[in-house]
Amino acid sequence: MINQRIKIKALLSEEATGREVTVMGWVRTFRNNQFISLNDGSTNTNLQIVAELGQFDESLLKKITTGAALKVKGMVVPSIGKGQKIELKATELEVLGECPADEYPLQPKKHSLEFLREIAHLRFRTNTFGAVFRVRHALAYAIHKFFHEKGFIYIHTPIITASDAEGAGEMFRVTTLPLEHLPRDENGNIDYRQDFFGRSTNLTVSGQLEAELAATAFSEVYTFGPTFRAENSNTTRHLAEFWMIEPEMAFYDLEDNMLLAEEFIQYIIRFAMEHTAEDLAFLAQRLAEEEKQLPQDKRSEMSLTEKLEFVVNNRFERVTYTDAIEILKESAPNKKKKFQFPVTGWGMDLQSEHERYLVEKHFRKPVIIYNYPGAIKAFYMRQNDDGKTVAAMDILVPGIGEIVGGSQREERPEKLLERMRSMNIPEKELWWYLDIRRFGSVPHSGFGLGFERLVQFVTGMNNIRDVIPFPRTPGNAEF
Ligand code: 4AD
Ligand code: MG
Repeated sequence: MINQRIKIKALLSEEATGREVTVMGWVRTFRNNQFISLNDGSTNTNLQIVAELGQFDESLLKKITTGAALKVKGMVVPSIGKGQKIELKATELEVLGECPADEYPLQPKKHSLEFLREIAHLRFRTNTFGAVFRVRHALAYAIHKFFHEKGFIYIHTPIITASDAEGAGEMFRVTTLPLEHLPRDENGNIDYRQDFFGRSTNLTVSGQLEAELAATAFSEVYTFGPTFRAENSNTTRHLAEFWMIEPEMAFYDLEDNMLLAEEFIQYIIRFAMEHTAEDLAFLAQRLAEEEKQLPQDKRSEMSLTEKLEFVVNNRFERVTYTDAIEILKESAPNKKKKFQFPVTGWGMDLQSEHERYLVEKHFRKPVIIYNYPGAIKAFYMRQNDDGKTVAAMDILVPGIGEIVGGSQREERPEKLLERMRSMNIPEKELWWYLDIRRFGSVPHSGFGLGFERLVQFVTGMNNIRDVIPFPRTPGNAEF
């Protein structure tokens, strides 16, 4: 058994001197053939280890290079150096894994995020990515904690499906058919009856439709899993593989849905602020430094910390789609023709430049836009009495734009069928979804939170590729 170490986080927080401990980790720097700074991923703060001159073989010290894995036994002593209360006076040093200095791409200096993306297998070992992924973990944990405390049941929805939940058609096909000679049917079309599942299948774009089934038994459920979209959008907000949290609740209308989403987002951000304060402080500092490069008008008005505090302490603004269009029509950028997509009027889909104007310039806080035109929203959303809008809601946050999309669902069978037919949604394939409207149908609602967009918002990272360990984007599936 080798695991008799103390984690550096625990050691630093205990600050107890005069005892012997063993630590293990990776060398960040080795100065003056004497001072090792060691990190084991438990915290952003490195442990200073002192290897007193003359105590250790030169041949051993030569192997202590940046990136090398070390096991150190030593005595915890008060530190005279600044920046730390304690340090470890080494009595035994063992190099567990060498790291050739001339080949190791991570040097103790500032690397660009773009470069680090190319060495994503090593970027976990940097301060920035250490902090980002500890915060990501805290948020994931808080999500389960929030729902568990409320009595929601966690449902695992399928990854491979035969339906297109969003009706968006941007899906990755799953097949075992031989691409070189595809089987054809009588009409010359690809014969999916010969495929693995006996039908055409794809990776899921959302677990919502299945979550709705579970919600009509458990009343409150949620999913938290990977979802896939073959959208060819190379932006800082889109991934081809991303994680989504989708709560689905029976006996909730749109108003209840909005309230839950707001409470949920505030809860998980507050949790991260309480449990990863050190990492968030580091990320706030990183962002402030990055923004110093920008012209004054492009910098954020609030620091990351202030922004998060603001979000957990203030109600989100609520505005109807109709009112949002009026605000945009009258806005300065629209009048000065500064928008790439001019605001043509009621019925248009909001582009991200419009959403960002609303949250960043007009309201300056998170905004919930609701009651969208039915024509631009998915088939399952509940039709409002005005005959034009559906009970949909999107939550937008500063710097990111849309973070949540949700709605009250159409629970009335005739209304749902009518809308499915008008939108060419294959009712035969969704027989089970329609069954739920025949057997004990109830008003119900739900939403989807894009996990990486949330992590971006909380960590202040500008590019979504930097908040998921191994991003999947068009043209990129390395690692
Ligand atoms: O708005 P969307 O498409 O909604 C749904 O999928 C619904 N079924 C949710 C529901 O009601 N249960 O996606 C929800 C959220 C978006 O607001 C966004 O945060 C995120 O998922 N998202 C993406 N995140 C990263 N990359 C992409 N390509 C994303 N597409 C959507
Ligand atoms: Mg959406």
